[in-house]
Amino acid sequence: MDALLDVKNINCGYGSLQILWDVSLNVSEGEIVCILGPNGAGKTTLLNSIMNLLSIWDGTVSFQGNEITGVDTSNIARMGVGYVPEGKYLFEALSVYENLLLGAYTVSDQNEIKKRIERVYSLFPRLAERKKQASGTLSGGERQMLAIGRALMSEPTLLMLDEPSMGLSPKNTMLVMDAVATLHQEQGVSVLIVEQNVKAALDISNRGYIIEHGRISYSGEKKDILESKEIQEAYLGV
Ligand SMILES: Nc1ncnc2c1ncn2[C@@H]1O[C@H](COP(=O)(O)OP(=O)(O)OP(=O)(O)O)[C@@H](O)[C@H]1O
Ligand SMILES: [Mg+2]
Repeated sequence: MDALLDVKNINCGYGSLQILWDVSLNVSEGEIVCILGPNGAGKTTLLNSIMNLLSIWDGTVSFQGNEITGVDTSNIARMGVGYVPEGKYLFEALSVYENLLLGAYTVSDQNEIKKRIERVYSLFPRLAERKKQASGTLSGGERQMLAIGRALMSEPTLLMLDEPSMGLSPKNTMLVMDAVATLHQEQGVSVLIVEQNVKAALDISNRGYIIEHGRISYSGEKKDILESKEIQEAYLGV
């Protein structure tokens, strides 16, 4: 069976500066896969190139068996890839509710939109309590919940998250990771998650890749990553 997301031999960069070197990775339906690696390794570049926010030099990206290399970002989103970029971009002046509505801009059925908003509120009750609040005044944890909630409004088949724990307290990190695990269990959403918080990411993942200096240096099952002495020394601080 085809992988849900299949990235093959990608090379790309900025100007003439190459960042990703022959990167291949895949996510099967129903999996949570994490990408780990140090600052500047190319993790965000990889997600941006999957979404065609950055053009790749060569290699291919396929989703559900169809090649999406070079397809417009908005069309990739419409096909079912949800992306929560690093930095939690929100429409600051708009309320929580309005931000969620914008996430469903491709849906015209009002009942369907209502249903999806309720689903987001049940996943993140905090957002329901603050639905009228301007998103610019939310706490870091609440902003991350809203960024994820907004991506969920398009009901993605695959959700890609770039460092959702960034800037969050351990408690909020757990809350966000638990929500991702719940989404996966209850709605069958597949997930590709970039994280620096190795423990939190591995906790909910089936498999992982490690990227260093723009190359995949390791890939394996969660158990193998957790048991690898080298990885523990490099990433788990033990
Ligand atoms: N727009 C850009 N123009 C030039 N170089 C860039 C650009 N964006 C990123 N880079 C460089 O590409 C390399 C990879 O950056 P990237 O943001 O993909 O790393 P990352 O693994 O996501 O790091 P972090 O964990 O800090 O978010 C870095 O050296 C970065 O400086
Ligand atoms: Mg990054």
